[in-house]
Amino acid sequence: MPLQHPRIHTFDDYQDAWRRSAENPEQFWAGVAEPFTWRRKWTSVLKADLVGGHNEWFSGAKLNITENCLDRHLTTRGNKLALIWEPNDPKTRQIRYTYRELHQQVCMFANVLLNNGVEKGDRVCLYMPMIPQLAIAVLACARIGAVHSVVFAGFSATAIADRVNDAQASVVLTSDGLNRGPKQIPVKRVVDEALESCPSVRRVIVVEHLGWPVQMLEGRDVWYHDEARDVSKTCPAEEMDAEDMLFILYTSGSTGKPKGVVHTTAGYMVWADYTFRNVFQVRENDIYWCTADVGWVTGHTYLLYGPLLSGASTLMFEGIPTYPDAGRFWEVIDKHGVNVFYTAPTAIRSLMTTPLDNVLSYSLDSLRILGSVGEPINEEAWHWYHTHVGKGRCPVIDTWWQTETGGIMISALAGVSPIKPAHAGQPLPGVQPVLLDQEGRELEGNDVEGYLAIKAPWPGMIRTTYGDHERARQTYFGVYPGYYFTGDGARRDHDGLYRIIGRVDDVINVSGHRFGTAEIENALNENDYVVESAVVGYPHDVKGQGIYAFVICNKPVAEGEKARVEASIIETIVAQIGKIAKPDKIQIVSGLPKTRSGKIMRRILRKVAEGETSNLGDTTTLLDPGVVDEIIRGRK
Ligand code: PRX
Repeated sequence: MPLQHPRIHTFDDYQDAWRRSAENPEQFWAGVAEPFTWRRKWTSVLKADLVGGHNEWFSGAKLNITENCLDRHLTTRGNKLALIWEPNDPKTRQIRYTYRELHQQVCMFANVLLNNGVEKGDRVCLYMPMIPQLAIAVLACARIGAVHSVVFAGFSATAIADRVNDAQASVVLTSDGLNRGPKQIPVKRVVDEALESCPSVRRVIVVEHLGWPVQMLEGRDVWYHDEARDVSKTCPAEEMDAEDMLFILYTSGSTGKPKGVVHTTAGYMVWADYTFRNVFQVRENDIYWCTADVGWVTGHTYLLYGPLLSGASTLMFEGIPTYPDAGRFWEVIDKHGVNVFYTAPTAIRSLMTTPLDNVLSYSLDSLRILGSVGEPINEEAWHWYHTHVGKGRCPVIDTWWQTETGGIMISALAGVSPIKPAHAGQPLPGVQPVLLDQEGRELEGNDVEGYLAIKAPWPGMIRTTYGDHERARQTYFGVYPGYYFTGDGARRDHDGLYRIIGRVDDVINVSGHRFGTAEIENALNENDYVVESAVVGYPHDVKGQGIYAFVICNKPVAEGEKARVEASIIETIVAQIGKIAKPDKIQIVSGLPKTRSGKIMRRILRKVAEGETSNLGDTTTLLDPGVVDEIIRGRK
């Protein structure tokens, strides 16, 4: 009989686990890790280094994460549903894989990768729609020890090229096209354009999805279905070291260049499973649905790895919440009998603006637990979700975490720990959050607000930024040495519950997606009209934050010309990053508020963007205070 994973079921369990995790972290984590399938056990649970950022978990151990996601379930859950795929168009056939079938599919894909020369440690970039083959391909990489780097299939060719080149990926996996609501997008064409500047790529494997004709480059491109025709349905899993790289996922920071967040094998595995089990309290026969795209970390940890490691049935949805109508999420929940549902506040807010009948016409009886992720959920959205989706009977958990943390850090455990609207709540056992003041001193007690940092390593933590450890060290461990710095501000209320306030760095969170202001500015500056730009975030009803761009053009732009210039600027952003980074507002200005040393005063721009123009603070130290009046007059 396999060992059971310890589970936290009551608030007493929670408090006990928290105490044990703080008193003796190594013993605690050894206990959590024990029930997995290990080829060889670890020699040390933790080698901690919160100053240099060289943290290791379970080192000396040997394993393969897919044996834990798939093989170990075959005897007890072989015929249980592992993956359910709901297509973009409700009239298209859904696809369901049992654990046995998924295992076979992963082995076949892994054999195709091996036959195409992919070796352990090679980086494979995936730019694919939300189809089962994306999940299968991710696991196939892990099966053979290749490092997956999934790029969300909404990024532009330039953004793909940057990521492929940074990771020096040798193989790209893609498809002919993708569905996104009423639209079809020629994905392979975007990849072709990207690869014009990616000399490291020698093979592109294309999954047929829409049946569209595509250009296949002789010697580089092959069809997956041709390659898979005669491959074996079994594939031995590569033996990996605990600290071997599992994946790279690019995310934005406060500098211009996205960074490749690196997660390794054993720690990530333990963390994904532990957090999934305990936060969502999923039961054996539950259907669990996380709406995130596999292109983001939420899709990695809570659509794929967490549920499969725990032996759950996970639903993958190709489409969008508003297609064919704004009742689609609720229709899918009723159709599949979803019990646990995990989505983003931006989706809730956009559905809140549509007639209530869209949700009231579905029973939603199967739902037991609701989750939220990616950005602060405002109280109005929380209550709408709780009342109309959860019918007042499902706990709504607000889960705070980051690409860098690998999995959920602060959240109520559903039905176990206290919940307060718009508060993430308490840390998971094993997580030690602190609030710091500007000087890095810990703020004691409750009713305090400061910079959110974590003072003890946890298994799912970022290991490095690909190819540039110094960047990881500086960003996460160098700001307040001895702490992992999150970049978020937070409040600990009088009950000791955490409420995340938002980023304290130059990162904007648009619909739960992170963008560095510098990254958008770099892209804007590529436009022929633009000489200089400054980007800030501002509160947006649906997206959480919107993007406000102030741009200086190379010559005065007449009123009648503005629309054309703005359209050209937007086109540049779409080409450089993708549609998801389109500015909501562009204001053409003749100058930017700068200090005498030439630094842009973003504080002023943020206030203007927010519409708070009456109290801009002291502007007399500006190089040209007059420019502020002009900016206020031209505010969008
Ligand atoms: O600012 C926080 C916000 O999203 C950031 C992390 O973004 P990303 O790495 O893209 O991961 C998103 C999915 C985990 C955080 O620094 N954030 C994430 N979850 C929450 C949140 N802000 C408030 N409440 C949350 N539940």
